[in-house]
Amino acid sequence: EIAIAEAFGLDYTPPRRVSGQPTKAGLILLAAGSGQVLHSLGLAYFEKAGDEMVAAVPSYGSIERSWEEYGGVVHRVPLKNYTHDLDGMLKKVHAGTKMVAICNPNNPTGTIVPYKDLEAFIDAVPKSVLVVVDEAYVEFVADDNYQTSIGLASTRDNVISVRTFSKIFGLAGVRVGYAIAHPDINQKLSKYHYNNGISLYGKVAAEAALTDYSHKHNSRQLAIDVKQYFEDEFEAMGLEYIRSESSFMLVNLKRDARPIGRALSQRRISVSDAERRWDMKGWMRVSVGTKEESETFITALREILTTTL
Ligand SMILES: Cc1ncc(COP(=O)(O)O)c(C=O)c1O
Repeated sequence: EIAIAEAFGLDYTPPRRVSGQPTKAGLILLAAGSGQVLHSLGLAYFEKAGDEMVAAVPSYGSIERSWEEYGGVVHRVPLKNYTHDLDGMLKKVHAGTKMVAICNPNNPTGTIVPYKDLEAFIDAVPKSVLVVVDEAYVEFVADDNYQTSIGLASTRDNVISVRTFSKIFGLAGVRVGYAIAHPDINQKLSKYHYNNGISLYGKVAAEAALTDYSHKHNSRQLAIDVKQYFEDEFEAMGLEYIRSESSFMLVNLKRDARPIGRALSQRRISVSDAERRWDMKGWMRVSVGTKEESETFITALREILTTTL
């Protein structure tokens, strides 16, 4: 917690531990991946059948799925120009709304919500509504209009920023994530975590990753370069794509993407079928690889598109 607070310049005092009493949560809550935070958000905020939440579609969708499983109602607001339609989402917030989920940058589109729009949205929702900002891919963002929600989460009592070491730091298998939120919010979530759910090894790896500036810089730069390469190649192939601030990109093959996904898979290249996952007919989501892997993907895609169709 202290290393995270230092990394973001947050004024943080670890909660005092009193022997024999449950540990109180502070501004930073460690967890076994950001997935654990998203999961416990559903558990902690869902109270009764019919409780409402608002989310965008297509988006990551993890809280929404558990919310519905518990018997809650999810208002899914379609993206506008592939990004969150905050005005549309605001219209779906009523007295019974418990939570709004914003994935920023969004998975699968890689689009972002500019800070001033996010702040205006948070100002506009009732204080009783928790605004969840999932920033799993935040470290990849290059757009100057972007600012993290940490400043909002550390000063308001209805905003939570959810972060992970799984993406830019490449530690997905180690399972370390965290939330920054008012201690009362983190306290509610921590009831569903056994201790913080992470091992000593996870803690050590995460702490080392936080200050491994060259790894972070190189991974980010690689993503920026590869996305530029993808854009150039997709344009040359006449394919539409969505400019992404994340580590993946959506491309519109304008034909059934499934046989193409299968042909890529036969060459040991794995992509996401955006039709199956997000109902985006003809689209495929490809993640940034090393330069060589990314070139292999483009060469294979070119061949498959010209030879099989
Ligand atoms: C937007 C988003 N949030 C959260 C997660 C969960 O990641 P983890 O639990 O590994 O931190 C993912 C994983 O793909 C994701 O894409």
